[in-house]
Amino acid sequence: MGTLINKRLLLGVTGGIAAYKSADIVRRLREAGAEVRVIMSPSATEFITPLTMQAVSGHPVHQHLLDTGAESGMGHIELARWADAVLVAPASANFLARLAQGRADDLLSTVCLATEAPIAVAPAMNQQMWNNNATQSNLAAVNKNGIKIFGPGEGSQACGEVGPGRMLEPADLVTLTSELFATGELAGLTVVVTAGPTWEAIDPVRGLTNRSSGKMGYAVAEAAAEAGAKVILVSGPTTLTEPERVRTIRVTSAQQMHDAALAQAATANIFIGVAAVADYRPAQTASKKIKKTAERITLELVRNPDILADVAALKPAPFTVGFAAETDNIEAQARQKLESKKINLIAANRVGLDLGFESDENSLLLVEHGQVTELPAQPKPKLARALIRHVAASYRARSGAEIYQLRS
Ligand code: PMT
Repeated sequence: MGTLINKRLLLGVTGGIAAYKSADIVRRLREAGAEVRVIMSPSATEFITPLTMQAVSGHPVHQHLLDTGAESGMGHIELARWADAVLVAPASANFLARLAQGRADDLLSTVCLATEAPIAVAPAMNQQMWNNNATQSNLAAVNKNGIKIFGPGEGSQACGEVGPGRMLEPADLVTLTSELFATGELAGLTVVVTAGPTWEAIDPVRGLTNRSSGKMGYAVAEAAAEAGAKVILVSGPTTLTEPERVRTIRVTSAQQMHDAALAQAATANIFIGVAAVADYRPAQTASKKIKKTAERITLELVRNPDILADVAALKPAPFTVGFAAETDNIEAQARQKLESKKINLIAANRVGLDLGFESDENSLLLVEHGQVTELPAQPKPKLARALIRHVAASYRARSGAEIYQLRS
């Protein structure tokens, strides 16, 4: 099952008596860890007020496609990009018909056309309307476009009739929404991820380190777990909470990270090195605090082992992915690392004073032997999911090619 922690969910509410339950859906989504924004159709506002939805979501409700105020802030394209998933609950027969046609004449239908995020609808209507051929063919068209249909349930209806067409209960919708993120793309595979900085001790109180917060690596580990993999995260010193469903091994120095990563990578299918590993460490670590007596002191540094290159040299080696933090000439520098470390893919990010390290957003250039793919700037959890999708496809393509070579 997927998790809703830190997920950005857009809840669309259309006109129907079940709209009174939408406030409860928002409450439960937030309790599960999601950030929620709400779009209401004009008829939804006849059943529940925007003020209620604003109060439970903690954000102003979006209602109009052409809204000069919204366009400078959260207009339709921003909302479409912001969402990690879209849930329309309740979804009326009219909304399903418009979704099936690909209409873009109100805010909700336009966002559904403009988003790359997964979309689910929870139909709610009278049982005759549900059974009508027109509704059923609209549903088939919606489903063919990759939109998930949650429910409906059966039972007594607000109109007094009994049959299919009841919206699923909020608790069930929240569970189904979390499953939108459980892609299964890495099911059955073991993935090892390194994250964070390393700490190279000079003496008991001082050391060499860098600005990596671990956010990118932790997001990659979470995305891999969500895609169904067994995940081992080898983490340098960070202040982050250990991700759920991930085995986290805490290390301090590059040598410790090397030893833990190599031990785990030997039986892994995929290795992703996101950590900012110190290339050098002090030749000696003083056992006592170095006193401020001399005017000048010299620190001798020795090279640390290269974790990524050593993983790629294992026989057999996992599908090996590196990260490259670059300030300029990104593609050329990344390709040079791809080739010198003999790895399968390198994800290059531009780093600067306010980019890459510590920030909540990042962008990546995925450099492989035959291709380059750009993943634009977005929050690290979303970027990590896009990276994992790409890695899963490249891993499958390579495994397929190996099987083909063995057979031919
Ligand atoms: O942690 P955040 O604050 O979220 O920041 C994320 C990040 C900027 C640290 C991350 O996106 C990133 O770019 N990580 C790699 C940074 C880096 O050290 O790049 P590098 O060019 O020095 O190393 C290239 C690759 O070799 C990396 O995969 C690194 O893990 C690996 N390496 C480096 C040195 C070494 N001794 N062993 C290694 O395995």
